[in-house]
Order: sequence, then C-alpha cells, then structure tokens
Amino acid sequence: MVNKINTCVFISGNGSNLKSIIINSRDYNFPINIRLVISNNKNAAGLKIAKKHSIPCKFFSSKNKKLFERNCLFELKKNNIKFLCLAGFMKVLSNNFIKSFGSKIVNIHPSLLPNYKGLNTHKRVLKNKEKYSGCTVHFVTPKLDSGKIILQKKIIIDRNETENSLQKKILRLEHILYPISIISIFR
Ligand code: GRF
Repeated sequence: MVNKINTCVFISGNGSNLKSIIINSRDYNFPINIRLVISNNKNAAGLKIAKKHSIPCKFFSSKNKKLFERNCLFELKKNNIKFLCLAGFMKVLSNNFIKSFGSKIVNIHPSLLPNYKGLNTHKRVLKNKEKYSGCTVHFVTPKLDSGKIILQKKIIIDRNETENSLQKKILRLEHILYPISIISIFR
C-alpha cells in the first residue's frame, strides 16, 4: 500500500465533492487518507457524510476569522495533517493561515479559471453566452481562485442550458476531476 498522506477537507455545504474524495481514498493506491473534516457551517450536510464514513469532524464558526483559523491550525497540527482540500468551502483563507499550515492546500472551482473567479459563476457564464464552461482544481493562495492550476475539465454549454442544469453537469464533472487532480499532485 502507498504511504497515504494525512488529509483534512474543509467544507461549508453539501459535501458531494467530499463524498467523492472519501470514496476514492478507499482505493489501495489513492495517495491520501481523509483523517479529518472541518466545517464552518454547523448544518452542513457534508458533516453527515463524514460521520457516515466514520471520519472525525469538527465545526468551528468562522464569524471571527482569526479564531476560526487558530482553531483549525490547532486541529490540523494535532491530527498531523499534511494536505488540505477545500471542497465547497465558502471562506477565503488568510496569508497567515496558509503560511502557518505550511503544506499544500487545493480547491475546486466551478469554472474554467482564470475566468469567472468568485461566486455565481454559472449565472455569469450563461449571461455572457459562453460556449464552454467547466471546473478547475488549483492550489490555494491568499488571492481568491488565483493559485496555480492543477487540472481542468471542459464541457459544452447546451442551447437550453439553465443555471440549474449547468450546475448539475459541472458538479458531476467535479466528482471526477478532484480525485484525478489529487492523484496527479502526488504522482
Ligand atoms: C462545488 O460546485 C464547488 O466547485 C464549489 O462549491 C460547490 C460545492 O459542492 N466551490 P459540494 O459541497 O462539494 O457538493
């Protein structure tokens, strides 16, 4: 078995990407093991997914960002976490946090970065009558959705595409892209 890297996933919501990473991490050759899940939303459905898979999880409010980051750094250290995945985590991490953690942090974003950083990507993509959209896994820096791109997947936007259909289509793609991006980082 490969020596799996202790990993934490930060979430804020549904956790469908978390689920995909957990399932993939069960594979003998997958490079990481999810040891911890942290949510800044105590009602995040993703917390139930973590519990169902017997993965320790924590909720910390991020109303006070400094305190949130301090709590997270304590847990990351305590659990010997060496890799951090953001999966639908709706908060920008500070430079100080990124430096203090000191290991790789990655994120998934539902657009073809560097286009459409930030929120409401699908709405803006449709408004601009784009022909393509997709998703991107990238390293996290203090600048929102701007770190080095690891992998991207592209889809064609249909003529009758709605925000909802586009979101579903891209989310399905994310569930494939995130695990293969993690493999590519540690290959
Ligand atoms: C995904 O579209 C992700 O790219 C974005 O937020 C959504 C989270 O979905 N950052 P889930 O919580 O993983 O289901």
